[in-house]
Amino acid sequence: MSRKYRVAIFASGSGSNAETITKYFENHPSIIISLFLTNNAEAGVIKRGKKLGVPTMVFSKKNFAERDDVIKVLENMHIDFVVLAGFLWLIPESLIKAYPNKIVNIHPALLPKYGGKGMWGHHVHEAVVANKETESGITIHFVNEHYDEGETIFQAKCEVTSSDTPEDVAKKVQVLEHQHFPKVIENTLLNL
Ligand code: GAR
Repeated sequence: MSRKYRVAIFASGSGSNAETITKYFENHPSIIISLFLTNNAEAGVIKRGKKLGVPTMVFSKKNFAERDDVIKVLENMHIDFVVLAGFLWLIPESLIKAYPNKIVNIHPALLPKYGGKGMWGHHVHEAVVANKETESGITIHFVNEHYDEGETIFQAKCEVTSSDTPEDVAKKVQVLEHQHFPKVIENTLLNL
């Protein structure tokens, strides 16, 4: 049997991207979603993992930032590639070193605008509307030691109208995320 790339997805919240990605790769010849990880014991992604049959690990700040527990789990499970899908903690240098150019993140705006610490989820869409932007979108990028600063892999745009609320923008952005993120992961991983 040919080798399969094993992917782990980190998520802090609902996990709709984690679910969409997992469904996209069901029966994929060379990529399998092997593990969900979360820092939040209440996160919706845990329920989704159960439903989808993906093992899910909850970890603490200590496991993540001060010890190499999470890296050990990834290595023991032979994880080849890491996806951040709504994961809100900064990635420690040790994890970036263990997976050089093999960690990608999705951000719900057109970076470098509306990135950095504290800019996540609804905060981003509120700022976009407050600044009367006429467009927003998604950025998929490699992860480095700084929030939202790694090399951009892909961007897609949506229109923001003067009557759009932050919730409206969130919906448009989510459509783009679900449409593009799985394919960008596939292309990035198969071209490593
Ligand atoms: C997504 O919109 C993602 O772009 C965003 O969190 C949401 C997670 O949704 N990520 C960030 O804001 C990171 N800075 P989901 O849990 O339904 O996949």
